[in-house]
Amino acid sequence: MPEQNHSGSGDNVAGNQTNIHQQGNFGVGVNQGEIHIHTDRSSPVPKLKGIPHNIPITSSKEKSEFLGRDEELKELHQKLQSTETKPVVIGGMVGVGKTELALQYAKDHLQTYSGGICWLSVRDSDVVNEIVEFARLELDLKPERLTNLSKEAQVNCCWSYWRDIKGEKNKFLLVLDDVTDYREIKDCLPNKPCFKVLITTEKKEIWSPSVQLELDVLTQTVALKFLKFLVRDNRVDEQSKDAIKICRWLGNLPLGLELVGRYLAMENNLDLSLAEMFQRLNKRGLKEDGPLVKVKSEMTTKYNITAALNLSWKELRLEGKQLAYLLSLFALAPIPWLLVENVINNLASDWEKRVENDRGDLLNRSLLKRTGKETYQLHSVIRQFLRDKLEEYPGKEDMKRGFCQAMVTVVASEIPQKPTRKEFIFLSYFICGAIECGINNHKYGQLSPGYTDVTRFNNVS
Ligand SMILES: Nc1ncnc2c1ncn2[C@@H]1O[C@H](COP(=O)(O)OP(=O)(O)O)[C@@H](O)[C@H]1O
Ligand SMILES: [Mg+2]
Repeated sequence: MPEQNHSGSGDNVAGNQTNIHQQGNFGVGVNQGEIHIHTDRSSPVPKLKGIPHNIPITSSKEKSEFLGRDEELKELHQKLQSTETKPVVIGGMVGVGKTELALQYAKDHLQTYSGGICWLSVRDSDVVNEIVEFARLELDLKPERLTNLSKEAQVNCCWSYWRDIKGEKNKFLLVLDDVTDYREIKDCLPNKPCFKVLITTEKKEIWSPSVQLELDVLTQTVALKFLKFLVRDNRVDEQSKDAIKICRWLGNLPLGLELVGRYLAMENNLDLSLAEMFQRLNKRGLKEDGPLVKVKSEMTTKYNITAALNLSWKELRLEGKQLAYLLSLFALAPIPWLLVENVINNLASDWEKRVENDRGDLLNRSLLKRTGKETYQLHSVIRQFLRDKLEEYPGKEDMKRGFCQAMVTVVASEIPQKPTRKEFIFLSYFICGAIECGINNHKYGQLSPGYTDVTRFNNVS
């Protein structure tokens, strides 16, 4: 591709004052919201060899280690090519592989984005500084050229400069990884069609104005393959039933699978059977002394599951936390919202009014998923995390007792004498939940006579 002089107009910026900054052979003017970059054409134009990028390649997986996402990679490419300036967002829960998918995509498509790829790790960092650093290190932009410019103008100057030196006919990719607040990035986005923008986030509210790709957990087949790959011996093949149990416990979440796989591959654990591993998960799960704690330096992520979920947890209001505690007591199956409301009614009369907001908070943080009309579910690992949190909650005894009693009351009152098939399917959830609550929380509730009624449904087909 031909290198170009950096001349021409820049992207729009807010504000309409005229402010000309001139330094050496390069000047930037802001006039009526337009940035203009002028160069002294007799001066040497920066020569950029190759495709500039700052993809954190060393922290990503080799292509052969990245499993089961061919369709998502294709979909991502198609979505990025078909949008003009809107960002494409990869959304999904903690540890599902959003960052890894973006990394693999960026590595695969260096040639597509021959203008270059700018990778910004957004969480806990100053985005403007990161953009300026990228321009300085990868595009050879002299920092003094940005002196006296507002933050917004600095960003726009970087984008204009990048576009001008590489040429508008090229495509450019900007990746913003792990965005938690759209307001922090919205003024930093380039708005020319040659720039494609890819965002990864857990936050649902960021998905809605954009073209989104919701990433789900791995299929069981791929999860087993991944575990086998990580364990590196024949335990997964030879103890396949226990391997399946482990995958189910982890809800086929890549981050969980990777932590367990690497744990099993440690020299100290080479004689550990998968049955014993499953026991350890059940006993210690996500706890500090459990097998899911240690994040190896070669992994893409720097957080284990608990640490990553804690980041979202810290942001939740108390009410959202209370709803989360309550949901963790339900069986691991799609939960009819009506049932949650019924239980809440029994627990506290004033809660019902605001519970939809609390549910919104959980959905927004990908802590809860809508699985169908009026139906919601927790991922198994999130439920485990919330159950551990519940144990630290001072009101846990009241909540468990109230939940048990409410479930029993609800079950007893909802069962018709001759249920239709539809009613039976709906009630089957109540039954599973009640039985699980009866087993796990038996010391909290005096099971009412209604509870025994549920057993008569066991034979309905
Ligand atoms: N499809 C996959 N194949 C292999 N490893 C994966 C896959 N998806 C994710 N991983 C690994 O799982 C871990 C969590 O993925 P990450 O992308 O950090 O999750 P997220 O960004 O959604 O929180 C990382 O170590 C990553 O390398
Ligand atoms: Mg991530």
